[in-house]
Amino acid sequence: MKLLVTGGAGFIGSAFIRLMQGSAEPPRIVNLDKLTYAGNLENLESVAHHPAYRFVQGDICDAALVDALMAEEKPEAIVHFAAESHVDRSILSPSPAFETNLRGTFTLLEAARAHHIGRFIHISTDEVYGSLEAPAEAAEDFPLNPSSPYSASKAGSDLLARSYFTTYRVPVLITRASNNYGPYQFPEKLLPLMISNALEGRSLPVYGDGLQVRDWLYVDDHCRAIRAVLERGREGEIYNIGGSRALPNLEVVRKILAATGAPESLVRYVEDRPGHDRRYALSSAKIMCETGWAAQVGFEDGLARTVDWYRRNSAWVERVKSGEYRNYYARNYDQRESELRKTAGTRGRAKA
Ligand code: NAD
Ligand code: DAU
Repeated sequence: MKLLVTGGAGFIGSAFIRLMQGSAEPPRIVNLDKLTYAGNLENLESVAHHPAYRFVQGDICDAALVDALMAEEKPEAIVHFAAESHVDRSILSPSPAFETNLRGTFTLLEAARAHHIGRFIHISTDEVYGSLEAPAEAAEDFPLNPSSPYSASKAGSDLLARSYFTTYRVPVLITRASNNYGPYQFPEKLLPLMISNALEGRSLPVYGDGLQVRDWLYVDDHCRAIRAVLERGREGEIYNIGGSRALPNLEVVRKILAATGAPESLVRYVEDRPGHDRRYALSSAKIMCETGWAAQVGFEDGLARTVDWYRRNSAWVERVKSGEYRNYYARNYDQRESELRKTAGTRGRAKA
């Protein structure tokens, strides 16, 4: 089998490539990645010299490049991870999410149509369903109700991908996963940010009251699910992939404090995320029933493995946290903290 993987230098894409290249019969993989702030070839050092692996630096919005690559490599399937994947960044600047998640997906779908691809796996997210009141769980036919520019661009790309199946019979399969965590995750997302800050003795910024609920999925479980969909999923279908472990953020942070040995005094409540979804919950019954996949890594075990990885890879974290990351951190967090101080000050004065 020959695969074109997009966004393979990111967190989940690189875990997928490592999983596939470690299998008994590794497929040939061409990894097309722009290497944005989130792309990191260090994540792929273990497979970089594999004879069945090729890296191409490029933008999925570049139709000429994608077309030439399809003509040259003739992949049987595309596994499409590339995205602007962070909600907070999409709130600060929505344009990159629109360009990559919508225009980029459109470019790939057009190439898939022109080159008669055998399978197109579109990697999406449970965020497209929006916030759900307990005890509801979204199945695959749940209405789409995205809240952020990120999730709206993912929902739009899901609809576009489905239209290519309905209209042109491009063999599209969509996966919608819950919150991933594990090694090599860029420290802008909750777990790697809190773990690395805790290990460095920095503050842990909790948005709002910290009672928002997310369902946690270990990245290797997600990648095994994608492999199951690639091999056994039905064309035109959507598959939810969850970790069946819903936790409020504050509980996650407390578990991180316990796992890292950091003090509770590092926790800092900061201004909430605008349009913050309160609760995500999804049913993974369909993928379990149709492909036999099930999550194997429990949250406590996955968290221990993740903390251990970040502890052992402080040099990776240091490199990733230098440069652009510092500007982003200041843009996202400085104002949040000062807004909260203002509100707290006003409240204090009103009381006095
Ligand atoms: P990531 O931000 O770690 O990596 C994204 C990768 O895409 C990077 O390597 C980046 O360089 C590349 N990229 C970005 N724009 C590109 C472009 N225009 N052309 C080519 N490459 C480009 O993201 P991730 O967390 O690994 O997420 C991968 C996919 O999984 C995304 O589609 C995301 O929406 C989806 N997803 C993520 C999660 C999660 O919890 N992280 C959960 C569900 C679904
Ligand atoms: O649900 C799947 C989605 O999960 C993916 O589609 C996205 O790509 C991925 O980024 C993730 O989105 P979230 O917004 O849920 O993840 P994030 O790690 O940014 O935040 C998780 C929760 O933690 C959320 O309620 C916001 C909160 N949070 C996050 C950060 C970064 C904080 O309280 N403080 C923080 O500093």
